[in-house]
Amino acid sequence: MSFPYTRLRRTRMHDWSRRLTQETRLSVSDLIWPTFVMEGNNVSQPIDSMPGVERYSIDCLIKKVKQAESLGIPMVALFPVTPTELKTDDGNEAVNPDNLMCRAVKAIKDAGINIGMMCDVALDPYTTHGHDGVFVGDEIDNDASVDVLVQSALNLANAGYDVIAPSDMMDGRVGAIRETLEGEGLVNTLIMSYAAKYASNFYGPFRDAVDSKSNLAKKDKKSYQMDFANSDEALREVELDIEEGADMIMVKPGMPYLDIVHRVKETFNMPTFAYQVSGEYAMIKAAAEKGWLDEQAAMFEALMAFKRAGCDGILTYAALDIAERL
Ligand code: PBG
Repeated sequence: MSFPYTRLRRTRMHDWSRRLTQETRLSVSDLIWPTFVMEGNNVSQPIDSMPGVERYSIDCLIKKVKQAESLGIPMVALFPVTPTELKTDDGNEAVNPDNLMCRAVKAIKDAGINIGMMCDVALDPYTTHGHDGVFVGDEIDNDASVDVLVQSALNLANAGYDVIAPSDMMDGRVGAIRETLEGEGLVNTLIMSYAAKYASNFYGPFRDAVDSKSNLAKKDKKSYQMDFANSDEALREVELDIEEGADMIMVKPGMPYLDIVHRVKETFNMPTFAYQVSGEYAMIKAAAEKGWLDEQAAMFEALMAFKRAGCDGILTYAALDIAERL
């Protein structure tokens, strides 16, 4: 029955009827908070290109993670700022059982904080060249990289991380990590794979945050991260990671890639996540600083759009702010 018997504006007329007919909801349980840990004591250091985001020394990090817990945020995704003198060509600090990431998770667990702790598996915070794997000749070598990544994943899982998140985009790494975890009896460690991760221009501020940008100019990440023109390939990536033992799937970046999120969710019915990456976050922040956008409203809308597209949860630097308002 068409107009005037059907008037779609009827349900939009009142706050109560809008709430009643709202199809998608955003809750604190949808949020994963990515944050940065650095060496030192009592340090919280702002990041210029990510207004409102800070790097924390472990003591400060504990307080912030406690705050996240009390707001009801289910999980934190931690990234290390490795001191330059510990960076090497092969990223060996990644397998050091006493590295910053391992000490951080132990401190958080020792403080009795009841929150999921996730960590990236990739070598870029640890390598002088800022790549996610290791070079053999002029190329990031797949299999040699997987060997180191597996050791790094095991190191992080042994230290206490609940969720291992390979973000390196090497072929076969999810299977290799899963096999090793099972072999070591770490049967309950979850894997959230950065399954469809694109060679994106929106990662710039993150690379400032972990100081991995320095030498990257020499070579981009296109030989391992996906071409942003591709969509079918994302389904193949996701399918392989599921077969190899991933528990959860991530699409990255987020907002310009909601078509990928939608296809992935519809096709695989997996727990599906997306990462509102540093550049997306920075765009909203910067526009708001200029007075061109209402930051809170725009951020809320962006996160709701992730949910509408099919995300079960979202990694967002705005998690604490949003959680406070929900
Ligand atoms: C490391 C990694 C990156 C991000 C998350 N893990 C950067 C990259 O791949 O170069 C980006 C996150 C962001 O931009 O917020 N592999």
